[in-house]
Amino acid sequence: MTKQYKNYVNGEWKLSKEEIKIYAPATGEELGSVPAMSQEEVDYVYASAKVAQKAWRALSYVERAEYLHKAADILMRDAEKIGAVLSKEIAKGYKSAVGEVIRTAEIINYAAEEGVRLEGEVLEGGSFDPASKKKIAIVRREPVGLVLAISPFNYPINLAGSKIAPALISGNVVALKPPTQGSISGLLLAEAFAEAGLPAGVFNTITGRGSVIGDYIVEHEAVNYINFTGSTPVGEHIGHLAGMRPIMLELGGKDSAIILEDADLDLAAKNIVAGAYGYSGQRCTAVKRVLVMDSIADKLVEKVSALVNNLTVGMPEDNADITPLIDTKAADYVEGLIKDAQEKGAKEVISFKREGNLISPVLFDNVTTDMRLAWEEPFGPVLPFIRVNSVEEAIEISNKSEYGLQASVFTNNFPLAFKIAEQLEVGTVHINNKTQRGTDNFPFLGAKKSGAGTQGVKYSIEAMTTVKSTVFDIAK
Ligand code: NAP
Ligand code: G3H
Repeated sequence: MTKQYKNYVNGEWKLSKEEIKIYAPATGEELGSVPAMSQEEVDYVYASAKVAQKAWRALSYVERAEYLHKAADILMRDAEKIGAVLSKEIAKGYKSAVGEVIRTAEIINYAAEEGVRLEGEVLEGGSFDPASKKKIAIVRREPVGLVLAISPFNYPINLAGSKIAPALISGNVVALKPPTQGSISGLLLAEAFAEAGLPAGVFNTITGRGSVIGDYIVEHEAVNYINFTGSTPVGEHIGHLAGMRPIMLELGGKDSAIILEDADLDLAAKNIVAGAYGYSGQRCTAVKRVLVMDSIADKLVEKVSALVNNLTVGMPEDNADITPLIDTKAADYVEGLIKDAQEKGAKEVISFKREGNLISPVLFDNVTTDMRLAWEEPFGPVLPFIRVNSVEEAIEISNKSEYGLQASVFTNNFPLAFKIAEQLEVGTVHINNKTQRGTDNFPFLGAKKSGAGTQGVKYSIEAMTTVKSTVFDIAK
């Protein structure tokens, strides 16, 4: 029998009556089981977290930071062990999986440091009204309370840690709901917080299928803040359930790389390939379409296809560049987009091959805007080139997307790059680099259907705290 993983609740490890078996996407090997929590068990998680918050928020920032630094040290110590499990559970290359754990430890350390630097302010009433010159407002930031952190399958540890650490340092308590495929990894992250000795109830986990318990855990009145990363449909649904409660949504994307005539094409090609095919395209920030000036398109396609042909296709433990997708439904969806582009006459520069859920990298040229591949997020290793004739056309196609996560512009004309950046309806524009979330102190956000709210360590702390103003008359 494989290991039965347990939830961490109120300082104890707990099984539930029901369990969910977790299998490796690449091999089908059974990796273990996680509890499928009942609604009553969720009630207990939330009730104990609420009780724990009083003492936790009463601690000083320095005291809370010490716990976070300990958890980060444990993750660094165990990065390879946890990375090996993560690699199997989500079919992510082993080195990248270890990198995800280390990056999480770095975020936790940075959040601890950022928290101790958090400052309030004092406002003078006399700045607005001479008659109020004896009034001052002492403005501080307070924790929001209980934060529900929901992470996606592609970064089950990192996109959990990037929510948990800023929440905890600011005096909140947390319930983590990891993705079902990724929940063993989420529970290994919990082990680090448990070993760091966090007081009981401050950090807890909830496992179970989102489709079964998702609504219940979100709608629950105990939750004060919902911090979600995942797909746009689920994010929109959670947004409706959240009602008036504050929320952070980091959702899907259709990031464009815009390549101008004067661009360094070798640099662009290298970044496009790394950006589009890393973790087999299963990144919200993957380059999901290339908008290239027609005059240089042939040259760029040649350079990109040479690099794509060098990508290795295989198993996560061998650090292959392209590994099996997370499940059959995901692979079928990618195949559907590819078939649509084939039928509508796109040029298949590197052809589609599929074995089970393993899809070899696919490259299309001459994709047109009537094709699904121009607009939909594949979350797989397929990249469309769309040829354009002007900067305006590139901006127009980029902005027509329902998504607005990020975009890249490749050019050496920096004034023009900044002008384009101003017009792109996205959260972040990268100049001469691939789209990407990091570094993790930067703001990370999506416009339109790519999200609501801003993450990034300092921004996440701000989001999960609320302003409290105490007004005082210094003399009567
Ligand atoms: P997903 O299907 O939306 O699931 C995300 C998380 O939500 C999982 O933990 C899932 O649990 C949970 N969930 C599902 N239904 C729920 C409900 N009704 N209530 C509460 N939670 C629910 O997304 P995914 O397939 O894991 O991730 C891929 C998507 O995430 C892509 O669209 C990608 O672009 C996006 N993403 C965005 C960012 C960003 O920062 N913008 C980062 C990473 C990924 P179960 O696994 O149990 O269903
Ligand atoms: O999948 C979405 C992640 O936020 C992307 O992060 O750009 O560091 O891979 P990344």
